[in-house]
Amino acid sequence: MSSFWSWWIIILTVANILGCFWLIWWTMQRQSGEAVQGDVTGHVWDDDLQEYNNPLPRWWLWLFYITLVFGAVYLALYPGLGNFPGLLNWSSQDSQYKAEMAKAEKKYGPIFAQYAAVAITDLASQAEYQEARAMGKRLFLTYCTQCHGADAGGTRGFPNLTDDDWLWGGTPEQIKASIAAGRRGVMPAHAHLGAEQIDEVANYVLQLSGRDADTRKAMAGKQIFLSVGCAGCHGMDGTGNQLLGAPNLTDKTWLYGGSLGIIKQTIGQGRNGVMPPHGDLLGPEKVHLLAAYVMSLSQQ
Ligand code: HEC
Ligand code: HEC
Repeated sequence: MSSFWSWWIIILTVANILGCFWLIWWTMQRQSGEAVQGDVTGHVWDDDLQEYNNPLPRWWLWLFYITLVFGAVYLALYPGLGNFPGLLNWSSQDSQYKAEMAKAEKKYGPIFAQYAAVAITDLASQAEYQEARAMGKRLFLTYCTQCHGADAGGTRGFPNLTDDDWLWGGTPEQIKASIAAGRRGVMPAHAHLGAEQIDEVANYVLQLSGRDADTRKAMAGKQIFLSVGCAGCHGMDGTGNQLLGAPNLTDKTWLYGGSLGIIKQTIGQGRNGVMPPHGDLLGPEKVHLLAAYVMSLSQQ
């Protein structure tokens, strides 16, 4: 803010407050001199409704004074008058937050840096790094539970991170990449196949995972699976492809669900699971600790 506008605001505000003081004082003076309880102003409505000229009640005046004094004291102590920072030199909430973050960074920074130099597999498994995993868990509870659950067990559409079944891979690098850069699983909608073919290929998917399926439909479904592109992403044998995040369809772990109805829905409408990137938000050292914590979960 330029100093012109700063002074503009200061003068306007102070003039307003002084003006209010003067206005009350002036009405008080006038009233105590002239007005007496019971006087009428001479204004009459509806034939006999008269306006009295009673002085303002004391309590009301005092309230007015108190608010004015409060305003003046507040503006003296806190920022409010143009560029004037206030006598308490109270910084804005934003810079207070930044100061607290800087303090935390100073305290925990060296610890994070120390753990960042240790291999993720060691952090995830060795007894001496118990505290590192505890820090990873606290980060997880802050940033990840709303989607993956407090126990990282996941829910429909949000993968379970405690099993050893990975959409995008379970090596330290792959887990780190999932957290830092995010992931986007794209399963295209296949509504164009029509209800009958969707039913058949869904039965084939059921059969792949060892569930009861209609054998005739599953046989027809296999042909569809191989010819319309399912195999291109999920593999010829349906075991998935971690480069695309295409799930293994031959195991008993389901991201969206393994009932015939849900499988048909997945095929017909498609799916689009999004894991948002966290690298910029958290920085590489926290991502490192989180990856170690996630890895430790699937090793238990
Ligand atoms: C372009 C690649 C691609 C093609 C083609 C594709 N899928 Fe998928 N499919 C995926 C991905 C990626 C996911 C995971 C979606 C997510 O993470 O949200 C998925 C998810 C699924 C699921 C859900 C699995 C679960 O665990 O809940 C089923 C079932 C499935 N696909 C079957 C099929 C069938 C059948 C076809 C052929 C009609 C097909 N897919 C074609 C990539 C593909
Ligand atoms: C907004 C919801 C959301 C948040 C927040 C979130 N995730 Fe995810 N995460 C997902 C989804 C959805 C997927 C699966 C993406 C897909 O369908 O391919 C996923 C996938 C993953 C994977 C890959 C799993 C695999 O099987 O390969 C890891 C690892 C992971 N998340 C860790 C984390 C961690 C650690 C955090 C906290 C920093 C986090 N996620 C925060 C939604 C979220």
